[in-house]
Amino acid sequence: MYHAAVTGWGMYVPEHVLTNDDLTQFMDTSDEWIRSRTGIRERRVAGATETTTTMAAAAGRAACLKAGIDPTELELIIVGTFTPDQYMPSTASLVQHELGASSAAAFDLNTACSGFVYAMAVGSQFVQTGAYSRVLIIGADFASRFLDYSDRGTAILFGDGAGAVVLQRSEKKEGVLSIELGSDGSAGRHLTLGGAESFVGLNGARKIDRPFLKMNGAEVFRFAVRIMGEAAATATTKAGLTFDDIDLLIPHQANSRIIEAAAKRLQMPRERVWVNVDRYANTSCASIPICLVEAEQTGRLTDGMNVVVIGFGGGLTWAAAVLRWGATGVKRGDAT
Ligand code: COA
Repeated sequence: MYHAAVTGWGMYVPEHVLTNDDLTQFMDTSDEWIRSRTGIRERRVAGATETTTTMAAAAGRAACLKAGIDPTELELIIVGTFTPDQYMPSTASLVQHELGASSAAAFDLNTACSGFVYAMAVGSQFVQTGAYSRVLIIGADFASRFLDYSDRGTAILFGDGAGAVVLQRSEKKEGVLSIELGSDGSAGRHLTLGGAESFVGLNGARKIDRPFLKMNGAEVFRFAVRIMGEAAATATTKAGLTFDDIDLLIPHQANSRIIEAAAKRLQMPRERVWVNVDRYANTSCASIPICLVEAEQTGRLTDGMNVVVIGFGGGLTWAAAVLRWGATGVKRGDAT
C-alpha cells in the first residue's frame, strides 16, 4: 500500500462580496442577528459569467500549479458538489475539458456539504492501492442560485466558492491517514434541494417548481454538533493518534456557534480550530479546502502537522479525515 500525500492546493472565490447589511436591503434581517447567531459577516456570490465549473476549474488549476504538475498528467478528477451546472455532463467532465486534463477519468460525487471530504476519501483509495498516482479533488458549490431570499433563516447562511487539492502517491506515511464516513438517510428531510415534485416522470404531475434549498435549522444544528465531535474522535483514533497529536481542526464552516460547541465537546482550544465562516459563510463543498489553503498561506499549517477535517451536510452525511501535511515521500517527477 502507498500513501496519498497532499502536494497541491488552490481556491477560488468570486469577487462580489455580499455583506449582512446588503441583505437587509431586500430581507427582514440585521447584521447584529446574523453575526450573533452564525458568526457570518459577509459571503461571496458568483457573478453572471461564473459557474460551478469555472470556479472548480480555477481552484483545480491553482492546485495543479502548486503541485508542480501539468493537468495532462492527472489520472482522475473528482468534483464534490450538490450544485452542478447541469445534470449531465458532470461538472468533473466539464472541468477536465477546461483544464485540458485529457488523460483523466472524471466524475462528480454528491453528498452535499461533506462532498469534498467524501471525494478525498474516494480519491485516496485509488492512490493508496497504486491504481493512480495523481488525483485532483475539488469541492465547488454555487448555492446562491438555489437560495430562496424570502427564507431568511436559510438564505443568510450560504456563499459560493471552490477549493481543491492534488493527491499524489507517496512512500512515506503522510497525507490521508484515516477516514470516517457516514450517512443517516432517515434525517434527510431536514436539509433538501428539490423535492420529489422536481423529478416527475411521464405519468406524474407536470408541475415543476424551481428548486430551493430548504432546511430545518435547529435539527441540523443539533446533528452537526454531535456528529462533528463523534466523527473527529473516530478518525483520530483510526489514525492511531489522540487529540494531543492534532495540530489543527478544520471543521465545515456552517456556523461559528456549531464550531464552538463541537470544539468544546472535543476539548480543543480555540487556537487549534480554523474559522473563516465570518468572511465566506457556508461555501458547502468548498468550505474545507478553502480553509486548508488559507491555513497554509498564513503559515498556520506546515509540514508534519496533523490536521483533522470534518464535513457534514445534506443526506444527512458526514465525513472526517486525518491528514498529515507534507509530501516528503513523493518521488521526483511525481511532485516538485
Ligand atoms: N434575521 C432575523 N431573524 C431571523 C432570521 C434572520 N435572518 N432568521 C430567523 N430569524 C428569526 C426566526 O424567525 C425566529 O423568530 P421567532 O422566534 O419570532 O419565530 C428567531 O429568529 C429565532 O430563530 P431560530 O431558528 O430559533 O434561530 P437559531 O438561533 O436556531 O438560529 C440558524 C437559526 C439557522 C442560524 C441555526 O439553527 C443554524 O445555523 N442551524 C444549522 C444550519 C446549518 O448549518 N445548515 C447547513 C448545514 S451544511
